[in-house]
Amino acid sequence: FEFHDLSGSVSLAWVGDGTGVILALTTFQVPFFMVRLGQSKLYRENYGKSFEDVTNLINNTFIRSEFGIAISPSNSGKVILTAEVSGDLETRIFVSDDFGKSFTDQNLPFTPLTQIMYNPEDSKVLVVLSSTYDLWLSEDFGSNWKKIHNMVCLVKGRKNTIYFTASLNGSCDRGMLDLRRTTDYGETIKTVASKIYSFGLGGRFLFASIMTGKGTLRVIHVSVDQGDSWNMAQLPPVGHEQFYSILAANDEMVFMHVDEPGTGFGTVYVSDDRGTVYSKSLERHLYTTTGGDTDFTNVTSLRGVFITSVLAENSVQSVVSFDQGGEWIPLQKPANSKCDATAKDPDKLQCSLHIHAAYSTSQKLNIPMLPLTEPNAVGLIIAHSVGDAISVMRPDVYVSDDGGYTWIKALDGPHHYAILDSGGLLVAVEHSTTNPVNKIFSTDEGQCWNEYTFTNEPIYFTGLASEPGARSMNVSIWGYTDSFISQYWTSFTIDFRELLTRNGDSDYVQWLAHSDDLSDPNDGCLLGYKETFLRLRKDSVCWNGRDYKVNTQPSPCLCTLDDFMDFGYYRKENSSECVEQPDLQGKVLEFCLQGKEELLQTS
Ligand SMILES: *[C@@H]1O[C@H](CO)[C@@H](O)[C@H](O)[C@H]1NC(C)=O
Ligand SMILES: *[C@@H]1O[C@H](CO)[C@@H](O)[C@H](O)[C@H]1NC(C)=O
Ligand SMILES: *[C@@H]1O[C@H](CO)[C@@H](O)[C@H](O)[C@H]1NC(C)=O
Ligand SMILES: *[C@@H]1O[C@H](CO)[C@@H](O)[C@H](O)[C@H]1NC(C)=O
Ligand SMILES: *[C@@H]1O[C@H](CO)[C@@H](O)[C@H](O)[C@H]1NC(C)=O
Repeated sequence: FEFHDLSGSVSLAWVGDGTGVILALTTFQVPFFMVRLGQSKLYRENYGKSFEDVTNLINNTFIRSEFGIAISPSNSGKVILTAEVSGDLETRIFVSDDFGKSFTDQNLPFTPLTQIMYNPEDSKVLVVLSSTYDLWLSEDFGSNWKKIHNMVCLVKGRKNTIYFTASLNGSCDRGMLDLRRTTDYGETIKTVASKIYSFGLGGRFLFASIMTGKGTLRVIHVSVDQGDSWNMAQLPPVGHEQFYSILAANDEMVFMHVDEPGTGFGTVYVSDDRGTVYSKSLERHLYTTTGGDTDFTNVTSLRGVFITSVLAENSVQSVVSFDQGGEWIPLQKPANSKCDATAKDPDKLQCSLHIHAAYSTSQKLNIPMLPLTEPNAVGLIIAHSVGDAISVMRPDVYVSDDGGYTWIKALDGPHHYAILDSGGLLVAVEHSTTNPVNKIFSTDEGQCWNEYTFTNEPIYFTGLASEPGARSMNVSIWGYTDSFISQYWTSFTIDFRELLTRNGDSDYVQWLAHSDDLSDPNDGCLLGYKETFLRLRKDSVCWNGRDYKVNTQPSPCLCTLDDFMDFGYYRKENSSECVEQPDLQGKVLEFCLQGKEELLQTS
């Protein structure tokens, strides 16, 4: 499909799950003597079969591309576009509740500062912060708005509860704020903590960093009852020049990064199930600045696996944990790549695989995509790496199909990639800023790649789009054509279903996750249980289909020493022996829990 449109940028959004509807918004802006001339066009497509210019639905209004297209969670078909009305101080929104088929407009009584947020439990309810730091709420999908608080600095929500920090004297000075909560959309507001520096949500936990009263030091407090009661986390306090960051959290635990001042790295701690007691997990963890770049990645395709980077002897190195932060090790070198012969110690560090993630992107390396994993594509990871002598400057694409234990080099040079059909299919298009492309590569699990020419006239490729959730077998390739006469956007949608046959039972095999020693009765055991998955055979040429569900059979394991952790103790590299943390030696391990002093019993 060709968009006869000169627009400067295009944003895509998938409206709902399984509907195949994409909205494409193109915007073009020229700052012209302080007057902004803008134009936007809206297109609606159905699985790439038909693209319709529906710009008339938004009355040819200019849409602010920095806010993009706000799609409701929970598949309710709601869409919000934020428009700029020229010559007017007002902001108008266009809202749709029928998957973008029709829109109505509403004028806002304020100018939004941030994207409008949906309540995931009830998508009619919207919350947004205005440019004058007022908190506004609508309970009827944008028709009526009420101001629920002024001088609000930060807003976050979970279910029907809205948390925000409020300033008492009109400035968002950190460390002086109140943390407030409303559970009834602003009818009643309760202050749940004060002297707040910042706050965050993760899993079932509410975290707040609160000034200790000793200089500029602050420390994390944790609540599991929405802020009614708090416990101080057993983490080192930090000063103004340092930061805390929640790297990942679920209902059972949290990974917390604590910055070391002026180093660009810090220490990762893992919590217990209350979020209060922490154990050291990884030192020299690379994390440049708050809100900055960390490579910390939850490998969602396999339980317990996380990848990140450490700063080791002035070089950045990837490490992986297969047991939820218990132990971190360098990634294994792929069987089909060579070690850098110039490396100081060819058998060690230099020769492990380095995964490029957010940090490399921030260093402007040619990394078009971050590592990709999907919960329903069991064991699969696709990422850019250097593991090879020849490609030190040019990252290649590597694939792991066992959750990061082993890797193979899949494609030379940087690519855009996507996981389709619950991992049954991977596709990739070469990333080049200078050369137009016309080929797409596809494979089942990265063993052999097939090449397909999708057009005779190569395009300047800008990106791949596939439906979130990795269930689809359709992928759209986006780019533009540049000729003497015109430049226009173009998109190709490919349905891979035609290429593969439907699955049969014989195409599946049993696969034991985390297995490395079949003779060990505890083989594959991780944090209490092992899991066997039914997976597509590597050589099968078939599809999982949309309704595919991950099929797993967990079975319990006997606990080993490695399953235990203890506050104040850590494990040395390659060892299961618990060693006392020197900085805690001789200290009384007591802390305040629910207003009472607790003595930590270590065993
Ligand atoms: C577009 O403009 C017309 C005429 O001004 C108006 O009746 C209609 O409601 C507008 N539609 C939208 C979606 O704003
Ligand atoms: C608000 O209070 C803090 C601390 O008392 C002070 O540093 C800051 O200047 C005040 N801001 C305003 C706008 O009064
Ligand atoms: C990692 O991702 C998996 C799959 O989405 C999720 O179940 C798990 O809770 C995540 N872990 C953490 C610590 O966030
Ligand atoms: C791919 O697109 C077609 C329409 O072209 C649609 O019927 C089909 O359901 C899509 N396949 C998947 C797996 O989403
Ligand atoms: C840990 O084990 C790896 C592989 O066996 C080895 O290369 C490394 O030197 C060991 N580290 C320590 C501190 O013993």
